[in-house]
Amino acid sequence: MRMREIRELVRPRASGLGRTSVLDRCHDMDDLRTAARRRLPRAVFDYVDGGADEEITLAANRDAFRRVCFSPRVLRDVSAPDLSTRLFGADLRSPLGLAPTGYTRMIHPDAEPAVARAAAARGLPYTLSTVATTALEDVAETGHTNLWFQLYVLKDRALTYALVSRAEAAGFHVLEVALDTAVAGHRTRDARNGFTIPPRLALRTVLDIGTRPGYWTSVLRGAPLTLANLQASDSPGQRATVAALNDLFDPAVTWDDIAELRARWPGALILKGPLGPADVRRAIEAGADGVHLSNHGGRQLDRCVSPLDLLRPAREAAGDRLALVLDSGVRHGADIAAALALGADLCMIGRPYLYGAAVGGRAGVERAVDLLVAQLRRTVQLLGVTDLTELRKHGPELVALTPSPLPHRPAGGEDGHV
Ligand SMILES: Cc1cc2nc3c(=O)[nH]c(=O)nc-3n(C[C@H](O)[C@H](O)[C@H](O)COP(=O)(O)O)c2cc1C
Repeated sequence: MRMREIRELVRPRASGLGRTSVLDRCHDMDDLRTAARRRLPRAVFDYVDGGADEEITLAANRDAFRRVCFSPRVLRDVSAPDLSTRLFGADLRSPLGLAPTGYTRMIHPDAEPAVARAAAARGLPYTLSTVATTALEDVAETGHTNLWFQLYVLKDRALTYALVSRAEAAGFHVLEVALDTAVAGHRTRDARNGFTIPPRLALRTVLDIGTRPGYWTSVLRGAPLTLANLQASDSPGQRATVAALNDLFDPAVTWDDIAELRARWPGALILKGPLGPADVRRAIEAGADGVHLSNHGGRQLDRCVSPLDLLRPAREAAGDRLALVLDSGVRHGADIAAALALGADLCMIGRPYLYGAAVGGRAGVERAVDLLVAQLRRTVQLLGVTDLTELRKHGPELVALTPSPLPHRPAGGEDGHV
């Protein structure tokens, strides 16, 4: 090989600075997670990454998708696959949405508005959490027209209903009620880290500043971390340990509360949690428009069934009367293809976009979405289908679930190469 050819091979791949950015070097969700781990202080990374108790569900959510085995069709013209869909009267560019996550400002100072802008730029819905760090009116200011609001039914019902009215007045499109948080899950990593919100300057935190100066400077320059939607109240959540969230949640919520919310909310209403077929039927009776099958990404009930295993029974119970959204463990576009083939209308992600946000704010969220959508497009093409209607129609031929997870080894080793 001549010198000129070698030079050509090692030529920097990006223009401008002459080196690729960390985001460009993230080629899958493992890479993005590794990059986020390097960027965030340990306690903050663990807050995002961790699950409840023994993290059995956290691991099982991935194992569920590793049981997916595709049987593709061949000799179909797949040169222009159409990934667009329509849900609750809104057009989506891909069957993907951003799930509600609390305390986003702790992960990146641009916080929830940056996530909303990324979602809008990619034509996807974004769900704002009750425990967001930006007021819902300020997120609506981004102009994103497909915002969902995730509601925790709080002990203080007047405050709960005030949130519903504010979400309606601000133009939120969908109300999603989380039903898997009768009490806060026990996240062992948070307990071990003595994790508080906002992060306290304990000795370990001070030592962490030395190794993560970029994170700390940006957080210290940013707006203060508050539960912005609950600020007007006497809520105990203003400066609280994660465990103190228990003081907000109401373990006494019942189907009567859903009836009350249905009466108050004129738009689409979705129930979020690990709902089995009996509860799906109940949700239809209660007037819900959709069910978001979720085990909170393994952060609430450990040993909880994986949403992928709830999907077929839920679809059989619901028929076409309900939309089915699924999250918990989606890390690859192939996961989305499989979930749609098995009956879902939409998949959502939590941690993947937070890893992206940690690394690059809005650009990082867009990177996470772009990776998943590119993987989905390729999977759909290799499956030999041209659009999502076809994917659903031929789902039973295209996807089988093996009894145990297929063997897996991360490409390039455990720690990626970012
Ligand atoms: C850091 C973090 C905070 C979360 N906060 C909320 C929340 O405030 N409300 C809620 O309904 N779900 C919350 N979730 C759960 C997500 O909405 C979603 O169900 C879950 O992240 C999906 O699993 P995945 O992270 O494997 O994609 C949170 C998840 C994470 C990772």
